[in-house]
Amino acid sequence: MKEGKMKMEKKRTGPERKKVIRLIDVWKIYTMGKEKVEALRGINLDVYKGEFLVIMGPSGSGKSTCVNMVGCLDIPTRGKILLDGKNIAEMSESDLATIRGQKIGFIFQSFNLIPTLTALENVMLPMTFQSIPRSERVARARHLLEMVGLGDRLNHKPSEMSGGQQQRVAIARSLANDPEIILADEPTGNLDSKTGNIVMEFLQKLHEEEGKTIIMVTHDERLTKFADRAVYLMDGQIVKSLTNGNNKKSGVKKKSLKGARQRN
Ligand SMILES: Nc1ncnc2c1ncn2[C@@H]1O[C@H](COP(=O)(O)OP(=O)(O)OP(=O)(O)O)[C@@H](O)[C@H]1O
Ligand SMILES: [Mg+2]
Repeated sequence: MKEGKMKMEKKRTGPERKKVIRLIDVWKIYTMGKEKVEALRGINLDVYKGEFLVIMGPSGSGKSTCVNMVGCLDIPTRGKILLDGKNIAEMSESDLATIRGQKIGFIFQSFNLIPTLTALENVMLPMTFQSIPRSERVARARHLLEMVGLGDRLNHKPSEMSGGQQQRVAIARSLANDPEIILADEPTGNLDSKTGNIVMEFLQKLHEEEGKTIIMVTHDERLTKFADRAVYLMDGQIVKSLTNGNNKKSGVKKKSLKGARQRN
């Protein structure tokens, strides 16, 4: 990141922005035999509605653990996580599962597609648990795959697609239930830079045009240009937080989904 483009976070004035997720003094301690690993050590982090937040930091600094907490995939050893103001520790397992299914979409570095299912079936999968009629699931999955430029790959299995195509299936899948929040853990980590850019363009578009809240883990400093804010983790603590001011949009080349399709 160019230091000139990002500045130290300042207290914002004006109308209060809605906090969709709050981590309050969150600790995660893994116990392995006699050894304890303090993966997160007192994280305080508010994520605002419609924000594009990037989490950076060296390997082992706690990024995935942090994003898993934000996605309610894991519970903290100590501290509180509030989702829309509600403490997730006080929710039942089934309420939590429903929230995860409807409110949050996940994208992983290794795509995590089901190898035996086609692109269409993979995208339909999250809708299975939300009692949506099959015809509607098919139509929506098809629409999402067309949106990411894969209308001609509906019946391909993951092994029959390129890495970038698989990640676009995963993006389509993350959108199946029209979530408010998208969590992406190194979404471009397994892609070459050109394919990674296409994936980033989709994420950017979801953020700018659909107002999705995006939380993305990356090792790649260059990707902070897409974000409103970058937080840096080191040994389980936030050591730096930078906002991207008004320079963000000028720093990013805008391309339409159509453009991205044509280049595939
Ligand atoms: N299930 C687990 N059991 C024990 N220790 C764990 C577990 N998961 C993670 N850790 C440890 O917690 C720390 C943080 O791990 P985490 O996966 O969050 O790092 P990361 O920043 O995502 O790293 P990377 O960039 O390599 O993905 C590491 O020291 C890791 O070894
Ligand atoms: Mg990780």
